[in-house]
Amino acid sequence: KPRLFSGMQPSAQSLHIGNYVGALQQWRDMQDAYDAFFCVVDLHAITVPQDPAALREQTRRTAAQYIAAGIDPAKSTLYVQSHVPAHSQLAWVLNTITGFGEASRMTQFKDKSSRYGADATTLGLFAYPTLMAADILLYGAEAVPVGDDQKQHVELTRDLANRFNSRFGETFVVPEPIILTETARIYDLQNPESKMSKSAASENGVVWLLDEPAKTAKKFKTAVTDAEREIRFDRGAKPGVSNLLTILSSFTGTAMPALEEQYVGRGYGDLKKDVADAVVAAFEPVRARALELLDDPAELDRVLAANADRAAEVADVTLKAVYDRIGLLPRG
Ligand code: TYM
Repeated sequence: KPRLFSGMQPSAQSLHIGNYVGALQQWRDMQDAYDAFFCVVDLHAITVPQDPAALREQTRRTAAQYIAAGIDPAKSTLYVQSHVPAHSQLAWVLNTITGFGEASRMTQFKDKSSRYGADATTLGLFAYPTLMAADILLYGAEAVPVGDDQKQHVELTRDLANRFNSRFGETFVVPEPIILTETARIYDLQNPESKMSKSAASENGVVWLLDEPAKTAKKFKTAVTDAEREIRFDRGAKPGVSNLLTILSSFTGTAMPALEEQYVGRGYGDLKKDVADAVVAAFEPVRARALELLDDPAELDRVLAANADRAAEVADVTLKAVYDRIGLLPRG
């Protein structure tokens, strides 16, 4: 089977609906056709200010949500990034073939450095994309299912793989980003011109997978729309309504033109209620299962440890080949 790699940062208590439809759902649907590696990228999460006790808890919670959403740790390799040291080790090597200029062009770096300020603009934040490239390249992944915001990082990964291969000989598989165009970008419910994000300004704009159903329903009820009455998909003119339609389409499996037709002559209240119902119905079992898994952290940690061993076996082979190609003297 071809290899697949993807990951999410444990940077909040819960994943949000953008992570779910932009990535997690695709992961679940692809795990049978691929030899898949799903990582909780804790080393990425420390590139911005963070709280150690919260990070530990969030790492488990993120893993529990992967499993609850349908990732099977017996089929796919589901593990924590820091448990496999080869990620950091390969990232260092990749740093030495990455230009300062090309890393400076990464829009996520520019966004985060302006959001967190000069003191938090660290070398770690700057090197975020080379660690991500290491994640992908260690496993020879052909497919990398992500949301739209990660496309630039996967493209840098492709450039680095090609550069290394041409400088030191064929070593890396050149990966492809897999992006579902319809759901590649989910927007904040309160501020539908910006991407929904774990660090959003308004808590009401973000729909969390682990929120209580009543809270989720309320967030949709108070979602920002516009002063018109017509329900149609038009990203530019009607960002709020279009975002709700995108979410509903994804959760019901109804394509956009057919969905628009269902709402001819109906009001925004109907649309909001239907989206809320569809999301709550899908999230409720996932939430319940995640909380159940979190009731037994020792068992969860055992699963993660066994999966990290499996990941390390693959990763260490790649790292060894890389060290050899670049001329590091093997330890005798
Ligand atoms: P992270 O944790 O920010 O996001 C996890 C995944 O969710 C997608 N996503 C969205 N999709 C649609 N709409 C949104 N509003 C939205 N917000 C987030 C992201 O595109 C991502 O697929 N750098 C990655 C983590 C990572 C990674 C990797 C991914 C580290 N190493 C290797 C793939 C391969 C990130 O920031 O994810």
